[in-house]
Amino acid sequence: MRRKIVAGNWKMNGSKDLVNSLVGEIRSGLASLDNGVEVVIIPPALFVSGVVDQAGGEVAVGVQNVACWDSGAYTGEIAAGMARDVGCSYTLVGHSERRQLFGETDGQVAVKVGRALASGLGAVICVGETLEEREAGKAEEVVSGQVREAASEVGGSQWSQVVIAYEPVWAIGTGKTATAEDAQAMHASIRAVLTSLGAPADEISLLYGGSVKADNAAALFAQPDIDGGLIGGASLKADDFVSICRAVPGRS
Ligand code: PGA
Repeated sequence: MRRKIVAGNWKMNGSKDLVNSLVGEIRSGLASLDNGVEVVIIPPALFVSGVVDQAGGEVAVGVQNVACWDSGAYTGEIAAGMARDVGCSYTLVGHSERRQLFGETDGQVAVKVGRALASGLGAVICVGETLEEREAGKAEEVVSGQVREAASEVGGSQWSQVVIAYEPVWAIGTGKTATAEDAQAMHASIRAVLTSLGAPADEISLLYGGSVKADNAAALFAQPDIDGGLIGGASLKADDFVSICRAVPGRS
């Protein structure tokens, strides 16, 4: 059975006060939930330890990015092993904001995936097409290329540490969401690519991200190949985030 996961990416938002209030509120909201969803909070790196303390082991914690190296003279960078050391169990890799604003390439994404997995972190690999690419009919080709490149650094049993988040760039932070049908079609196509690579595709959780809100989450999560969500804006309010976690269908 693949895992159902809802991950909240705080991006560059938050403060010590927010950590102290929001994590507890999320934990209380999740207390009555029995749908088996795994919840992950991904704050800015400076707040990871605070979130780990507040999470009490009930909510997993991740970082938003890791370096291409294990240690050394790389000012400002954070290694995957450091994230693991302070209690993280996941990292995002290749979020579209990293790719677009910081020039992260498919090759660097693959290296980061390798570092994350070798350090024992789960890698949430983010893929997605731009609006121009979708309008040119190239969405599946682009996403498939991103998946293939990232997968080049994944071997054998490491697939159990991999999660893929499909996030169409045009849907991130815009209030526009892919329709549940379009998202499902892309998720099925990603699963087919994984199968063609010899990965255990049916065991790999595929998340949808891009303007997921309390009122559209249930339709997305009801799709057979959508195993949860990567949530940006709506992860900063406990009620919204918990409602999204609640929208994951229970185990059948
Ligand atoms: P959003 O962000 O939910 O605010 O659209 C999603 C993401 O970037 O992961």
